[in-house]
Amino acid sequence: MDQDEKKIKVAEAALEYIENNEILGIGSGSTVNCFIEMLDKVKSKIEAVVSSSEKTSQLVKSKNIKVIELREAGKISVYIDGADESNKFKQLIKGGGGALTREKIVANSSSKFICMIDDSKYVGVLGKFPLPIEVIKMAQSSVAMEMIKLGGRPILRENFITDNGNIILDVHDLEINEPIKLEKFLNNIPGVVTNGLFAIRCADKLLIADDKNIEVI
Ligand code: 5RP
Repeated sequence: MDQDEKKIKVAEAALEYIENNEILGIGSGSTVNCFIEMLDKVKSKIEAVVSSSEKTSQLVKSKNIKVIELREAGKISVYIDGADESNKFKQLIKGGGGALTREKIVANSSSKFICMIDDSKYVGVLGKFPLPIEVIKMAQSSVAMEMIKLGGRPILRENFITDNGNIILDVHDLEINEPIKLEKFLNNIPGVVTNGLFAIRCADKLLIADDKNIEVI
C-alpha cells in the first residue's frame, strides 16, 4: 500500500470517532483532506466544524457543513488532524502544511485529539522531520540564531506566508529527546508565534496505518 492509500485508510478509521450532534475540530493537510472528502457519510452527525486553516474551511464548506469560529463553539469534543511525526507518547511534530498555530489553538480547546498518521511517521525520536516554527518576520534572523545555538539548521520556507501573515522557519537536524522541555523553551523566544511540537497538548489517540491494519494507541 502506498502512502496515499494509507492516508485514505486512516482517514476512514477516524470517521468512527465522530459522535452525534458534534462540534468537530478539524486540522489541515492531505490526510485531513481525505477525511473531509469522506464527511458526506457522517454529515448528519455534525452540527458544525471549527477549522484550523482557510483551506480546511473552504473544503468543509464545499461539503455544505457549517464552519464556525472557536469563540462560538466553546469547548470542542473531538479534534481530528494529521501529523508529520509521532513518538510512542503521542507527542507530535506538526506544521508541514504551515497551519500549526491555529491547529495548536483548536487542539488545545478540544477534549479529545485524534491523530491520523501512516507508519512512516511513527518514530523513536522526534526531529527527523524539520521542526516548523511560525515566526514574526521581523524576528527571522534573531530566532534563526537561537536555533543555530540549539544545534539546529533553520531554513526559511520559501514563498510561504501563514494564514496569520507570518513566516515559517523549518529547523533541520534537531534530535528532540525532551519534547515538552523544548516546546516550552521555543515558546519563550521573542518573535516565535508557535512551534510545531505538540507535546504539552499531545494526541489522545493515535491511528497508525500500515500495509494491512490501523493500529490504535
Ligand atoms: C499541517 C499539519 C499536517 O497535519 C501535517 O503536515 C501532515 O500533513 P499530511 O497529512 O499532508 O501528511 O501539521 O500544518
